[in-house]
Amino acid sequence: MKKIGFIGIGKLGLDCAEVMAEKHEVRGYDIYPRTSDSVKVCDINELVNESEWIFIAVPTPHADGYDGSVPSSHMEPRDFGHDAVIDAIQKVNTHARSSKKVVLISTVLPGTTRKNFVPLLDPKHQFLYNPYLIAMGSVKWDMVNPEMIMIGTEDGDWNGIAGELKDLYDTVMQNDPRYEIGTWDECEAVKIFYNTFISAKVGLVNMVQDFAMKIGNINVDVVTNALARSTMRIMGPKYMTAGMGDAGACHPRDNIALRWLAKEYNIGYDLFDTVMHAREIQARNLALFLVENAKQHGINIVIHGKAYKPDVPYCIGSYSTLVGHYIKEAGFDVKYLDPLADDPADVISELAGPAVILWAHDRKITYEYTGDQPETEPYCEIPQGSVIVDPWRKLVDMTGLTVVHYGNTRTK
Ligand SMILES: NC(=O)c1ccc[n+]([C@@H]2O[C@H](COP(=O)([O-])OP(=O)(O)OC[C@H]3O[C@@H](n4cnc5c(N)ncnc54)[C@H](O)[C@@H]3O)[C@@H](O)[C@H]2O)c1
Repeated sequence: MKKIGFIGIGKLGLDCAEVMAEKHEVRGYDIYPRTSDSVKVCDINELVNESEWIFIAVPTPHADGYDGSVPSSHMEPRDFGHDAVIDAIQKVNTHARSSKKVVLISTVLPGTTRKNFVPLLDPKHQFLYNPYLIAMGSVKWDMVNPEMIMIGTEDGDWNGIAGELKDLYDTVMQNDPRYEIGTWDECEAVKIFYNTFISAKVGLVNMVQDFAMKIGNINVDVVTNALARSTMRIMGPKYMTAGMGDAGACHPRDNIALRWLAKEYNIGYDLFDTVMHAREIQARNLALFLVENAKQHGINIVIHGKAYKPDVPYCIGSYSTLVGHYIKEAGFDVKYLDPLADDPADVISELAGPAVILWAHDRKITYEYTGDQPETEPYCEIPQGSVIVDPWRKLVDMTGLTVVHYGNTRTK
């Protein structure tokens, strides 16, 4: 039996504390009077000093008008409020006479914990970020049957306190949950982007509904059910690896044309424009990263793969050339390596010297679902001193070459 304290026993914290109290000795503290049959509500000094684990479940409120119940897309974006979390951390510092395991549950945006909370916590304590995927109305059931448990540590390490928290959860869980261990920042991101995926999904199916209402002869359920049964690409892990943007002869032009349809039927918003705009800026961000590397090393930029994917000649809708466009816009030259490309402009077959190379083609990423496993072989010999920027983060270090995993900013 562990000694556990919950600071903040509101809608989330109280039910979670009561679940823990079925197996452990649990205390709760709140600035608002609370009562419970199984959790001992006490003052902050007793809670801090009588608990080995301290869970913080205080509010991280949005400002008035930012809950989505009234229009807000025209308003200045704002972060959540952090005052209650900071207050809870300071109270732990003030009262604790020994080292504590402090676990923050409250929802915050990625980067918040490292920047705003950890520097305030007395270094004698240990800190985990552990957000919950819990919905009102089923808090207790959700708590013990979660889709996953996210445990964030400073460096994403499983060992030590993260493993101890897992052991603690194993005493109360009913569904043998999946554990996702990451850095504080990664777990903040998993939690908040989980919600964004849901919002995006609902936004997409409701957009089909809007089109059904405008065009006629369409039952939205026939369309969304067909999409829901499309488990090869849409539902499932496919397209869940960040890397080069969506490309090819169909997807980009379909979205570009759908912009017209949104206007034609006066849908009132243009999600396609947002999707395509993001795709372009993502390409530009990657291009500028290549340019920065080229400047730093004093070498040229080459894109390994011009066709929109490996093993085909088609350069139509290619994300490589979109990235190339932004490289040129930044005043830099760009060449392509691609023995199959059907558009020979700027395609070379050899590298005369070291280059910054964007590893656009990765056969495994593209074709793994067919059971076709071979890796992409380099399209020519890669000179020593080259810097390979791998947007898929699959290449391993090679002697004489620098491999940069674009999208992985962990320091260890
Ligand atoms: N409610 C949910 O279903 C849910 C789900 C996932 C995540 N979350 C997150 O959990 C956090 C808490 O949410 P909630 O719904 O329980 O909020 P809530 O407002 O119901 O409860 C928070 C409790 O903290 C108390 N409190 C406020 N400031 C305090 C302080 N300085 N010291 C001690 N106690 C203090 C409040 O009196 C309240 O009882 C938020 O960050 C929220 O985003 C909530």
